[in-house]
Amino acid sequence: MEFITAIGRPEAIKTDAIVVGVHADGELTPTAKALDAACNGALKAATKSGDMTGKRGALLPLLGLTGISAPRVLLAGLGSKDDFNERAFNDAVRCSVKAFNGAAKSVTVAALDWQVKNRDAEWQACSLAIAARETTFRTDELKSKRDPEITGAGSVGLLLKTRNAAAERGLRYGDAISNGMEMTKRLGNLPPNICTPSFLADESRKMAKKWKLDVEVLETKQLEALKMGSFLSVAKGSAQPPRLIVLKYNGAPKSSKAAPVVMVGKGITFDSGGISIKPGASMDEMKFDMCGAASVLGTMRALVELNLKINVVGVIAACENMPSGAAVKPGDIVTSMSGQTIEILNTDAEGRLILCDALTYAERFKPSAVVNIATLTGACVVALGGVNSGLFSNNDALANELLAASRDAGDPAWRMPLDDDYQEQLKSNFADMANIGTPGAGAVIAACFLARFTKAYAWAHLDIAGTAWKGGAAKGATGRPVPLLAQFLINRAAR
Ligand code: BES
Ligand code: MN
Ligand code: ZN
Repeated sequence: MEFITAIGRPEAIKTDAIVVGVHADGELTPTAKALDAACNGALKAATKSGDMTGKRGALLPLLGLTGISAPRVLLAGLGSKDDFNERAFNDAVRCSVKAFNGAAKSVTVAALDWQVKNRDAEWQACSLAIAARETTFRTDELKSKRDPEITGAGSVGLLLKTRNAAAERGLRYGDAISNGMEMTKRLGNLPPNICTPSFLADESRKMAKKWKLDVEVLETKQLEALKMGSFLSVAKGSAQPPRLIVLKYNGAPKSSKAAPVVMVGKGITFDSGGISIKPGASMDEMKFDMCGAASVLGTMRALVELNLKINVVGVIAACENMPSGAAVKPGDIVTSMSGQTIEILNTDAEGRLILCDALTYAERFKPSAVVNIATLTGACVVALGGVNSGLFSNNDALANELLAASRDAGDPAWRMPLDDDYQEQLKSNFADMANIGTPGAGAVIAACFLARFTKAYAWAHLDIAGTAWKGGAAKGATGRPVPLLAQFLINRAAR
């Protein structure tokens, strides 16, 4: 799907279909009014007759209107003007680009008319691109017969009166972010027998080659030399060797020596729980336990096209969490790269065990900020469900930047507490800390564990256990929080 701007009077635009909005009271948006005038009132007639109520989600295609170049006009119901929010905008885009069963190859949307409070043309264009791209994504590369042909539009145009740099930039950003989200979704959806730690490393190498990123992949011997005893303890139970992947995007001018943002991703390519094995129901979904890693790769993918003048390092700790004769056991005590010792009381709390070493490793980049992204706790799903990602941070300025980006991107996060008082729950009789706490506040306790390894820099942790994928009939990775992370980097590069 490509995105273009279509500049000119709506009745004269060369396109297979033009989409205009109608509000719930039958009020035509400005572009709809202009078309209506050009075709002697066919649009107004459709609202008067009741064929188009203007209700949210209602669609009415009108074919062959005289006085209009486009052979198809689609009236899209936007609902009440007062309630027209971000979600309504995205829903209207999604249903209108799918509306023609592929008969319209190019669809031009008069989306600048669709005004959302406090949102500008750049936001509208960016959201148009992301919502349109969402309609065509599927993961069918492992089906012997691919899913039926995608019947959406091949080219989506944004209607403009005159050239508009903000709108053009928005389309470009939306396309870049969609490319990132699609990479994240694909990697998340791939099965755990294919998407292994080595596979993630190979994909990273491919990315680096194609888009001129620096890449380094550390294997077991190197992880041993770094004394990553905590990370290695999780990997031990699996036949698949672990990988620590480091990808670098160098967008800042060389002379500036700008400190990088480091993104650290949890890449558990399958989480069986290990010896503290999980129950069987929905265990397949634990293939998504590498979605933090996938969101790091997806954000790097977006960065390449966003072309931001900023330095970013992606660090991914990838391994499987499996039970076996060689697996780590409850009661084992391991020494992390930081030197702190950890009593492993539950082998299913493995995300923090691999992240703590990756977070210590991140110190070497002298980062301006470190953001780790992890499907870390079921407790976060209980607390926030599938709407907000959990945000934890040792730095208010960084937390506020991420919250602002999450709102701009429509990829919400909610700040959670990290008070020192919670740290007591991690006390161990035999080591510096335990890897699980006493019951209660599970998402906070996991974050508190990570906080012990991130004192050297401004740090934030996104717990995406509830937001990275959906279960049920629509099972699949969501591509979140790539929009949040991309927006965060866009904002940082601009300041
Ligand atoms: N990957 C899981 C977290 C998870 C669970 C994400 C369910 C999404 C849905 C993580 O490794 C885990 O197993 N966490 C445990 C921690 C517990 C043992 C302290 C959990 O949340 O149950
Ligand atoms: Mn686990
Ligand atoms: Zn896990």
